[in-house]
Amino acid sequence: MKRLAAIALALSGCVAAGGGSDDPGHRLFLAKCTSCHAAPEAARHTDGEWAGLVGEYAKEAKCTEEEIALILGYLRRVNGRE
Ligand code: HEC
Repeated sequence: MKRLAAIALALSGCVAAGGGSDDPGHRLFLAKCTSCHAAPEAARHTDGEWAGLVGEYAKEAKCTEEEIALILGYLRRVNGRE
């Protein structure tokens, strides 16, 4: 039982670290990329495609370089594609 609790704790730690609303990249993505359309699915594009798409749309969304890097980091982390 002790072991199960440890695993559950480790898992909830993971959720908080990536993809959750504590993730600044995810929050920025939702804040910046949903004013003209619904948030696009991360898994729809590869890492390389996202680099181009975020670069393009970030201009529309008036993102700083830092915000672009965070949004891109979030998308690459959750899309599961190279
Ligand atoms: C100023 C409005 C605006 C903002 C802000 C915006 N978009 Fe878009 N986006 C559009 C429009 C308009 C289209 C449809 C373009 C078309 O049909 O050619 C689109 C389409 C897309 C598509 C679909 C295109 C494809 O080929 O799959 C993706 C992905 C996308 N946007 C990502 C983003 C991301 C990421 C952000 C945040 C950085 C963002 N958009 C912010 C206007 C915007």
